[in-house]
Amino acid sequence: MHGEHNKPTTATANPTRAARAKAHANIALAKYWGKLDPEENLPAVPSVSITLEALSTITTVAFDPSLQEDTLTLNGAPCGGQALDRVGRLLDRVRSMAGTTTSARVTSQNDFPTASGLASSASAFAALALAATQAAALAIDRSEVSDIARRASASAARSVFGGFVGLAAGAPGETFLAASPIASRDHWNLNVVVAITSDRAKPIGSTGAMRHTADTSPYYRAWLDLCPRLVERIHKAIEARDLHALGEAAEHSALAMHACALAATPAILYFEPATIGAIRCIQSLRKRGVVVYATIDAGPHVKAITALENSQVVAHALGEVPGVLRTIVSAIGGDATVEPVGGST
Ligand code: PMV
Repeated sequence: MHGEHNKPTTATANPTRAARAKAHANIALAKYWGKLDPEENLPAVPSVSITLEALSTITTVAFDPSLQEDTLTLNGAPCGGQALDRVGRLLDRVRSMAGTTTSARVTSQNDFPTASGLASSASAFAALALAATQAAALAIDRSEVSDIARRASASAARSVFGGFVGLAAGAPGETFLAASPIASRDHWNLNVVVAITSDRAKPIGSTGAMRHTADTSPYYRAWLDLCPRLVERIHKAIEARDLHALGEAAEHSALAMHACALAATPAILYFEPATIGAIRCIQSLRKRGVVVYATIDAGPHVKAITALENSQVVAHALGEVPGVLRTIVSAIGGDATVEPVGGST
């Protein structure tokens, strides 16, 4: 009888529900830059990306009735402020879909150096959306997970899927928008070589930079006109596995995006000297017959798109560029996955 008093009676009545998910970063071949509806976080332009095997985030979400509020640990360090607010907004959506108010403990780990300034919001919010919806036991498909991720960071919608992935532009009044797979990773054996050019934090985040570009760049309208045509070229190049056509369109998209942001007042300049050095290196590799093209996101790092058999040559050449700190070679990655919970993230 005595023993019965010690039995934990609340553990099953009010359990902690946890789930873990892994998502890869992605690199846009056709860039998303500009919001149609900032409130709904709908992109003004369509985009296409490839998912990167070598860069990923693993996130665990535990809905725990004993918590007073959500907590966030990023790469081992407790986090508050804007990062926690963004995570909280995504969790609020999942909670309202699941009909619960329980707070969550979120633990997230990148397998690449965050201090390098490599974009991590895509893999982070895709992993968070998948882990949170699993932990809340929501019976939803990957498209709905992608829509939830998109609300936090539009590029994160694409990281829910592997291979080649598209995200359409939003339409006025739309409330649901998810990315969708264009081709699987097995379709085409491309590699991406990431040249890390700076360890400093970038001068301005993508949301603020997009707003400032839309408000002040005289080239913004031209950019909006260009994007659908580039996306069409990229779709055709993926289908035909034509690296020249893909690379030309991807490089054009990246440089046009930066030109548009550079023409804002005051200018948004993400490049470091090593960014230019890496672009020049890619151009001279091309002159030597190596098929390789550059793309650059909202930061100083250069990503070289090339065939698997050329990735070591490209990585070596980029590693020699003054100011390039290191290179990472990545194959194309797969879908975001649900991982077993246990151990530490
Ligand atoms: O999803 P966001 O808000 O982090 O914006 C991403 C913007 C770019 O990385 C520059 C382009 C893209 O399509 O990923």
